[in-house]
Amino acid sequence: MPPDFDMVLFGATGDLSMRKLLPALYQAHAAGELHPDGRIIALGRSDLDTAGFVAKTDAEAKIHIKTAFDEAQWAAFTRRIVYLRLDITRRADFDALAQTVQRRQAASVVVYLSTAPEFFADACANLAAVGLNTPQVRIVLEKPLGTDLSSARAISEAVGRHFGENQIYRIDHYLGKESLQNLLPLRFGNTVFEPLWNRDYVRSVEITAAETLGVEERGGFYDGAGALRDMLQNHIMQMLCYTAMEAPAAADAQGIHAAKLALLQSLKPMSRDDAAAGSVRGQYAAQGSLKGYRQESKVPPESRTETFAALRLEIDNPRWAGVPFYLRTGKRMAERSARIVLNFKAAAGAFGGSANRLLISLQPQETVSLSLQVKAPGSSKTTAAEMTLDLAQAAAGRRADAYELLLREVIAGRQELFVRRDEAETVWAWLEPLLQNWAADSVPLYDYPAGSWGPQAADELPARDGNRWSEAA
Ligand code: BG6
Repeated sequence: MPPDFDMVLFGATGDLSMRKLLPALYQAHAAGELHPDGRIIALGRSDLDTAGFVAKTDAEAKIHIKTAFDEAQWAAFTRRIVYLRLDITRRADFDALAQTVQRRQAASVVVYLSTAPEFFADACANLAAVGLNTPQVRIVLEKPLGTDLSSARAISEAVGRHFGENQIYRIDHYLGKESLQNLLPLRFGNTVFEPLWNRDYVRSVEITAAETLGVEERGGFYDGAGALRDMLQNHIMQMLCYTAMEAPAAADAQGIHAAKLALLQSLKPMSRDDAAAGSVRGQYAAQGSLKGYRQESKVPPESRTETFAALRLEIDNPRWAGVPFYLRTGKRMAERSARIVLNFKAAAGAFGGSANRLLISLQPQETVSLSLQVKAPGSSKTTAAEMTLDLAQAAAGRRADAYELLLREVIAGRQELFVRRDEAETVWAWLEPLLQNWAADSVPLYDYPAGSWGPQAADELPARDGNRWSEAA
């Protein structure tokens, strides 16, 4: 029997709730993975009752369900929902919430703060004031969790006044992707990889998360964030952790967090000069029928916010010293693709040709491909061939989507797929010289045509080391 829960959803009428959280909870419900008594206590400022909120989910959440839809299952799912009108800043509004939660005494109470972070302090203080900070309560924090080290710390401190770190779940939905989690078994469960996964055999590593979409309707939020804060500080750095960390002492939260932290603490510090030389930022410009970023709705026409960020870094530890890591992310790029590429050193001698490359694709396909040298027929020369493993076909079983998987982990009280405070702060501290340089406009902001691989200047990052991005290799 799955564990019992009550899920308290702040910001329940918002975009994330309708597009991701409620559909994910439905999918888990339909798969029989939610305790039958588990409730969803939806909170919002809209003047609705439960029936009104359910009608809203019918119109706005249902369309985002990714698995087969079943009307009877949906009806049963919506019976879990209770809607309460609540203004986060009004302490008195929390009494009804406390009564609703305490009436049932569920084994775990998951509080999901799907609101802007400026409301976190009031939400936590008011929850504590009505006794909703007992050890059964877990609090899920949705990004953006700060814009730099000091604001990230301020958020953790405000929440930490009322909840212990073991009750706090900082969500990064990339950690809910099966293909990302697969990196650890791939690396440490296969003796054919681990001995080669280091500076002796690896020439360079690329991590890319590219999107074809623009900022859509999120211009208002995005313009205050940009690619570095929206994707690189969190999703890409988590991809880096899983790619480069040492084997965890145990495959549990403590072991994994310790290994990630050790890796992040080994990032070679950047001076402001390194940050300028080793980073590229860009903004998409109009191309054909596609608008440029500065023409998007809610984006100021003079905006200097980057929609593309690329970075070269090194890791100062025995495994990786001297190996360049190239990271990049962008909107309105040539294709939607999240991938990790290890470029191995080329073999010497008569049979050496192009070097082996291991490409781990997180999306759109979940695949692992290894390029190998094979003999070209009718010739003594070698040629490169790809050996590809489709992860979805290789391992039978239902692949839950990222939010669904992470929500189940919080309900079960498992923290390994969440970001611990010290990890997040180590990344922010390391990024500080770059943030300062970009804020001071010491790095050019290039235009790039929508639908491209970003500004040309980004090609120079690997080119300076004699390398190329994978699509050009
Ligand atoms: C979110 C960002 O965290 O991740 C969005 O805020 C981005 O801007 C999204 O589009 C990408 O997620 P995925 O899973 O589609 O790669």
